[in-house]
Amino acid sequence: MSEKCSMAVLGVGQRGYAYVSMLKNHPQVELAALCDTSAERVNCFAAELGCSHVPCFYSVDELLAKGKFDAVIITTPDFTHKECAVKCFEAGKHVMLEKPMAPTVAESREIIAAAQRSKKMLQIGFVLRCHPVFKGVKKELESGTIGELLSINCSESLRVMHGASYMRRWHRKSGNSGGFLLAKCSHDLDLMSDFTGSLPVKVASFGGVNFFTPDKQKAPVCSKCPDQECRFRFKGEMVRMTPEEKAAPAEKSFDLCVFNADKDVVDNQQVLLEYANGVRGTFSLNLFAPVPKREWRLVGTLGYIDADTAKKEYTVTFSDGREGFTRHCEADNTSAHDGSDMIFLNEFVDNILSGKAPEADAFAGLSSTVIGNAADRARLTGSVVDISLEEYK
Ligand SMILES: NC(=O)c1ccc[n+]([C@@H]2O[C@H](COP(=O)([O-])OP(=O)(O)OC[C@H]3O[C@@H](n4cnc5c(N)ncnc54)[C@H](O)[C@@H]3O)[C@@H](O)[C@H]2O)c1
Repeated sequence: MSEKCSMAVLGVGQRGYAYVSMLKNHPQVELAALCDTSAERVNCFAAELGCSHVPCFYSVDELLAKGKFDAVIITTPDFTHKECAVKCFEAGKHVMLEKPMAPTVAESREIIAAAQRSKKMLQIGFVLRCHPVFKGVKKELESGTIGELLSINCSESLRVMHGASYMRRWHRKSGNSGGFLLAKCSHDLDLMSDFTGSLPVKVASFGGVNFFTPDKQKAPVCSKCPDQECRFRFKGEMVRMTPEEKAAPAEKSFDLCVFNADKDVVDNQQVLLEYANGVRGTFSLNLFAPVPKREWRLVGTLGYIDADTAKKEYTVTFSDGREGFTRHCEADNTSAHDGSDMIFLNEFVDNILSGKAPEADAFAGLSSTVIGNAADRARLTGSVVDISLEEYK
């Protein structure tokens, strides 16, 4: 087993930047290449991160033709995942592909086929599987603390400016990401399946735009808007920009109005799910929180678990008179998602070096896309959508 692997990062934007900053001093990784279709961005961010010595490339084809590395982290927008991942597998690379795997089931299947042909590893960026609170909850479920799981009620609340950023960035078009639910909450859909140990066979959903509706008082872009006091005026939130982009954000449409942009995503959504093993669940997406948090309740035959990522703890309450308990889960704030990002990256490195199969595998990625697409179909048609277990294969 070799001690180190060499790695490339493909797509050095918001997420790629975070990976480069974790990789640049990683003891088991040689950061061997960076690639972004924007030369300005990749050159600027490489310098900012002290990685100017790392070779930079400006297309996936150039990266694969000239770069020398074993594995690649793909952090490009969702609508490019299939093309990037398939090419990387064809070039014989191990791949960590950001979530969601792809906007559509058909694209996800093409990625899986390419991974299988190449016999290389595919890990999907479901970092929440490494979250200290959810790791604790999973242990409780596995050790039978609350008996047999009956239902699972989950919510994700986004910080308001984070949610608003989805109204102006590339995610604002469902075609680019598979919709808000899949783009943002494929993590949650994945973890719900992992916790239930099953997959949904029926999905219903309601959702829409209640707040970010068109507003005639505002301009199409913040830089030309008369409403100077608007709390959503673009100030650079949730986008990594070069100095040139910061000086003229309107030139690349960074400052689209969150109300008036041409968008088709929801700003709130509720999902109801029935799993093949009889567990039932709900998921609620909310965009208007002061701090981000996931609040989950898992109900079993002996009691329930309440998990809260903002408090970084979970509480077990028993229904049979026993005294419950709260576990505070220490989080390491040196990487995002309460330290999950670094744990997840270390798992990827370990999987490459040891040949172990990833937990967040290709079929976890496919499943999330199947569920996300089905929920949006249910929302748009106002019907309950049946999912055959064959669709997850
Ligand atoms: N796991 C998580 O928690 C998490 C968090 C945030 C984002 N993400 C995912 O990471 C991915 C990137 O999101 P982001 O917010 O960083 O987007 P972004 O727009 O900030 O960055 C994407 C970068 O990719 C570049 N790019 C676009 N097409 C390319 C191509 N074909 N080849 C090379 N480079 C290309 C762009 O120029 C840009 O710099 C998305 O799939 C997103 O869903 C995951």
